Amino acid sequence: MPEPLLRLADVSKSFVGTNALQDISLEVHPGRVLCLLGDNGAGKSTLIKILSGVHTPTSGAIEVNGQPVVFKSPRDASAYGIATVHQFGGTFPLMSVGRSFFVGVEPTKGWGPFKRFDKSLAGEIAVREMQSLGITRVTDGKRLVGSLSGGERQALAIARAVYFGANVLILDEPTAALGVKEASHVLRIIMQARAKGVAVIFVTHNVLHAMMVGDHFAVLIHGRKADDFRKGERTREQITDLMAGGEAMADLEAELAELEASA
Ligand SMILES: Nc1ncnc2c1ncn2[C@@H]1O[C@H](COP(=O)(O)OP(=O)(O)O)[C@@H](O)[C@H]1O
Ligand SMILES: [Mg+2]
Repeated sequence: MPEPLLRLADVSKSFVGTNALQDISLEVHPGRVLCLLGDNGAGKSTLIKILSGVHTPTSGAIEVNGQPVVFKSPRDASAYGIATVHQFGGTFPLMSVGRSFFVGVEPTKGWGPFKRFDKSLAGEIAVREMQSLGITRVTDGKRLVGSLSGGERQALAIARAVYFGANVLILDEPTAALGVKEASHVLRIIMQARAKGVAVIFVTHNVLHAMMVGDHFAVLIHGRKADDFRKGERTREQITDLMAGGEAMADLEAELAELEASA
């Protein structure tokens, strides 16, 4: 294994009255997908917010390429090439595809004080980049983001992050609100980002989706890392049981079947 791109060492985060994360150590590698699994309240979003510079850890260290870093704001994290796609794509429904692709980094036409946003170029680039990820139904950069499907919005946000050179792509539950077909498209796009050498952190509570694309896995329970393992080291049942807090889901299924039979 080469040196990790990003490393967390014993990171903890407390809020008043809650230890949201305790002693989390993780490594993130280029061209690999790390799946972060855990039930609601496990601490997944808090961990993402630490990696994207929204929260600072209470204790512990973050390293990028072996060097200690401190992210004081999301701007600091993005300066290190860490891009976060929040749930539902984090895009603006009333903006055009082209404009939302270039929010904050708009290409310009003209010089000096006459610089203005070049809408048609922005639209062309956005559409081209989405098409390169297999989103072929979006052909007009003037379309409003609000008219895109959930999967297309995720694709737009991922295409944007990859286009602007993200080294680390953090996806918070990108498949949670999607149907089967759309979800599989997003999973395919994750694999494309991986093939481009991007380190992907895929947050999900869907064990099946995680197993389809993950190289490494970490399971959070009540703010602690309950387990971590590589592809092929656990069965789907083992992961599901662990996430359910050690309750064997097979037992639960049998119990429910019995209840149904007696009803
Ligand atoms: N800003 C905050 N202030 C206080 N408690 C918080 C805050 N953010 C998260 N928490 C608490 O930290 C725990 C982990 O939350 P979160 O990271 O959102 O979990 P997940 O994303 O896995 O559902 C929860 O108990 C939550 O209530
Ligand atoms: Mg969350």
